[in-house]
This record gives sequence, structure tokens and C-alpha cells, in this order.
Amino acid sequence: MRKIHIVTFGCQMNKLDSELAAEALADAGHTVVDREQDADTVVFNTCSVRDHAEQRVLSRLAQLRPRREADADFRLGIMGCFAERDGAELLQKLPYLDFALGTRQFPRLPEVLAGLDAGAPAEPRKKTRRQAGLFGAADADAPGIGNRHPRARHEGMQGFVSVMRGCDNRCSYCIVPDVRGGEISRAPAEIAAEVRSLALAGAREITLLGQNIDAYGKRDGSSLAALLRLIDREAPPETGLLRIRFVTSHPRDITRELVETVAALPRVCRHFHMPAQSGADPVLAAMRRGYTRADYDGKLAMIRDILPDADIASDFIVGFPGETEADYLATRALVAAADFQNSFIFKYSPRPGTPSAETMEDTVPPEEKKRRNNDLLAVQNGVSRRRGAAMPGKRVEVLVEGPSPRDPRRWTGRTAGNMICVFPEPPDGSDWAGKLVRCTVTSATPLALYCDAAPEAVG
Ligand code: 5AD
Ligand code: SF4
Repeated sequence: MRKIHIVTFGCQMNKLDSELAAEALADAGHTVVDREQDADTVVFNTCSVRDHAEQRVLSRLAQLRPRREADADFRLGIMGCFAERDGAELLQKLPYLDFALGTRQFPRLPEVLAGLDAGAPAEPRKKTRRQAGLFGAADADAPGIGNRHPRARHEGMQGFVSVMRGCDNRCSYCIVPDVRGGEISRAPAEIAAEVRSLALAGAREITLLGQNIDAYGKRDGSSLAALLRLIDREAPPETGLLRIRFVTSHPRDITRELVETVAALPRVCRHFHMPAQSGADPVLAAMRRGYTRADYDGKLAMIRDILPDADIASDFIVGFPGETEADYLATRALVAAADFQNSFIFKYSPRPGTPSAETMEDTVPPEEKKRRNNDLLAVQNGVSRRRGAAMPGKRVEVLVEGPSPRDPRRWTGRTAGNMICVFPEPPDGSDWAGKLVRCTVTSATPLALYCDAAPEAVG
């Protein structure tokens, strides 16, 4: 039996897959360890969304190469999106890599480790291609994806549940449809049962995950709104569930019915991650996003009309092929006006095989991408500072996590908008972890809220 350390890169879907892989390994009798130095097997769960994400994995693999070559019993593998995209080539190029498992194949991790142990070569440098475990190409029938083991161990108060996998959009820059395949929505009853069992096992907050979650159930006449109502019924407050979140929303697919449903269900967080990617119509068209700037502004207005206090976050790509200064300024104006809680800003990175990489020239020079990136960050920072300056005196509801690792006299938790909140420890040594409290904000930074007064219990 092995001691395995999993390192996760990329999005929350990868975080969930790492959890599911850890469950499969534990079920097979292995031990999943927190520290790399305690492990005899290291697995990187990889991301391909930008070149930078892949380069980071390659350099971490190279760091472990000496250990792999010195120790015939040590195993090194990758799973996830980069493994799906490039697994076969990586196994050939990196002789010290033992296995590569694609995005729908990670439940086979125990099987692959057992196979390697059965035929483990005495001298790892002489390992042949055949002995390496490679399961590429998406296999929708792979066991265990999303379907949590009924005995799923639940750690901490946050639970992640995938409601759909893959994506049917064809945004021209995006590798996700290649590495995660087409959209597959899970059955509503199955999702609701999973949420319920996670809640009963101690989860206070559930995040529903989908690359394009507003498209949930579209093909079967269902919807995310209907799913939220079902979950609200099937996992009532008595199960211990306090909060429900969902990510990520596509601006084209987010509906009035969804926002009204969020407004009607108090446990659903008033928090939307709705990536705009650009504020300029020519760029949105070249990205094949399926909406215009006016459409996006309309969706923002719709959300703010129904839920004036909603926190909205966005993603942007700067330096997309053909993006002119005027296009960039349109994006800049959107960020300056939209009052986003947060903007995640990325420099365009051509991904091999995607439509933009294959058919469009990467016209914006790296230093110009960097300038636009830094400038847009500065605009968002200004917005965040302005939002922070309006916070003192406001009351926020916080799901308590526990004592701050830095100062146990202060405790931390998160708001519905996923902001960190720091407040004084509860009086008389009581344990408020997993409870909702109300705090009055004293001061704020773009990332955190600070409260000097003792919080009050809610409900
Ligand atoms: N280059 C740069 N950023 C990208 N993203 C997705 N693909 C690329 C790419 N090729 C960004 C988008 C997406 C986020 C997860 O990553 O903004 O919303
Ligand atoms: Fe990265 Fe996209 Fe894969 Fe998530 S789905 S790990 S963001 S490439």
C-alpha cells in the first residue's frame, strides 16, 4: 500500500477531482498524505488553461526527477487536463514519469498503481513505454466520476458537487472542450441526494460546479433554477446545510428565472461569477462568446435589479488576437463601471488545437499584454478600494471557519460573497465553527473584512 501526495493545479473542478481520487485511493487501502516528503507517490492534478499552468507542472516534475531516479520504489504521475491533452507525448519525453491519467480516468488511479507495482522494473531508468499507465481520451463510462462513493468522507465544512462535466461551447481560445469533453449533466435526484448526504456528514456549505453551470439540464428540459429548488427541498436546514453556491455562469445562459430563484431561496449565496472576457464587441465575436457588450450589460442590470446587494465577479482575457487599443479601452470602461467584487485578469495564451490558436495570429506583443493586464488590475483595485471604503458600519453574515492560523485570538469565516472576515474570538471559549454569525465591519481591504466588535449568533 502506498503513501500518496496529490498536488492540485487549476480550477475547482480539479480540486473536486483530487478529492474524488483521494477517496478512491483510500478505499483501495492507500494512505493520502499532506506532505510531499512523507509520500512514496506524487500525483500532479494538472491544468491546461494557459501555457503558464503547464510550465509550472513541468518544472515541479523536473524537481522530483532526481528523487524518482534514485528511488526505484518512488512513483510520479499526472492526472487532469494537461495529462489528457499531452499524456502520451509526456510519457515518451519524460522517462521518469510513471503514468498519465486523463480527465475522466482518474478513478482508475488505484488500478494503475497496482499495475505498476506488479510489473515495477528494478531500474526505473530502463522503464519501457508499455509499463507506463496511460489512459487518455475521455471515457464517459469511467467509474466514479461525480458519483461520490456513498461512504464519501467529508472533510471540513465545504463540500463540492459536480452537477455537469465538460462544455459544449466553442469559445475560440478555450482548451476545456478538448480536455474535458462535451457537456454531460447529472440527474437532479442524484445531485440532491449527494448534497443531502454531504450535509448530513458535516458540510455546511455546498458549491455546485460546472464549467458552464447555467446550461445545466438544458437538454433534458431541466434547469439550474429547478435544481436549486430541489436541493433546497431535499437538503433542508435540519440537515445542517447553511449555504449553497454555484459556479461558473455564462453570461448568455444566465436567466431571469435563475436570479429570481436565488432571490427566493435565502440559503443560496447572492454571488455570481459571470466572466465577461472582454468589453468590446469585435473581440467578443472573435472569441465566439455568443453575446455582445450590450447583452452583458443587460444581464448585469437584470441581476442588480432583482438582487441589488449581489456580489458579481468576472474574468477577462487581455491581448486577444486583434484586440486594438480601442477594444482594450472598452474592456477598461466595463471594469470601471461594473462594480465587480473581483476581476480575474489573464493575458491571452494560445492553446494548441483551439480555433484562435490555429486560425488567428497572436498579434498583441507580450509587453503590451502585460501593460493591459497591469492597467486593468489597477482599475479593478480602485473599484475594490472604493467598495471597501463603503463597508465600515455594514453588517455582514459570516459562516465561521475557526481561529485564524496567525492569531488564535481572532477568528475567521467567509461572507456570502466569499470575502474573508476576521473578528474577535467567541466569548467564554465556545466553538462557533460551522455556525452563521453577524459581524459589523470596522475596516476592509480588497480581500478581507475586519470587525472589532464581537459577532452575534444568527438564528
Ligand atoms: N488564455 C488566457 N486566458 C484564458 N482563459 C481561458 N482560456 C484562456 C487562454 N487561452 C481564462 C478565461 C477563463 C479563465 C478560467 O481562464 O478568462 O474564464
Ligand atoms: Fe484548467 Fe480548465 Fe482543466 Fe479547470 S477545466 S483544470 S481551468 S484546463
